[in-house]
Amino acid sequence: MKGVVLAGGRGQRLRALTHGANKHLLPVAGSPMIDHPIRTLIDAGITDILVVTGAEHERAMGEHLRSTPLADRCSLSLAPQPTPDGIAGALACAETFAAGEPVCVILGDNLLQRPPTTAINAFAADPIGAMIFLTIADDPERFAIATFEGDNPANPITDITEKPANPASNAAVIGLYLYDAEVFDTCRSLTPSPRAELEITDVNRAYLRRAALRGAFIDGWWIDAGTPESLARAQSFLAGPERPA
Ligand code: TTP
Repeated sequence: MKGVVLAGGRGQRLRALTHGANKHLLPVAGSPMIDHPIRTLIDAGITDILVVTGAEHERAMGEHLRSTPLADRCSLSLAPQPTPDGIAGALACAETFAAGEPVCVILGDNLLQRPPTTAINAFAADPIGAMIFLTIADDPERFAIATFEGDNPANPITDITEKPANPASNAAVIGLYLYDAEVFDTCRSLTPSPRAELEITDVNRAYLRRAALRGAFIDGWWIDAGTPESLARAQSFLAGPERPA
């Protein structure tokens, strides 16, 4: 299975810190943010990795990928996302790299205490459909939220709702996804959402409609480091006793 780190986007919520630079190159606990999701993929055994970044940041990201110590542990390539047209738009830029193989996709601002290696290996052994990963959120209205048959998280997923005002569960979909090679056809079939983006939730809902979506809860902490508050939280988790090994 190949790995894809999505590091395009606008990064508006961290604008005060980036001044036009790519947010994924901001330092988090001593390394650029992007190194944390790259390390998550490597720790899961995935060593052929593509980073997709905004065309305007390609040079800076390329310099970083050539100099990071992680380059000794994996093969790192880079592809541009021409415009920040959404997470599914960024994923579409990985089609040539994937070359028909299944992909493990992680958002460049998502930090995990540890990768769900067992589930990733299980999917790699039977790479049909898609798998999403979930965690219990205290603030579910900020995330895409999954609901389950009989309201039981052990049962199959029945729906995913983006940032619901009145969440029907607190099972948040994190920015780590496994897809079979069909995902690129699905990305092509999307239309932009009301906020004018190609949404990854629409990709996942397309798999759900085909009864081809699995879900698994992760162990350990997860942080989306895209806001000043969550970035500060990421720093303290990575410095604390529960930091990744
Ligand atoms: P978001 O946090 O949803 O968007 P953003 O990074 O543009 O930030 P903001 O909302 O503050 O403007 O994106 C989550 C991750 O998805 C981010 O780390 C990078 C990736 N992404 C892309 O690669 N391309 C895109 O067009 C978008 C929107 C996001």
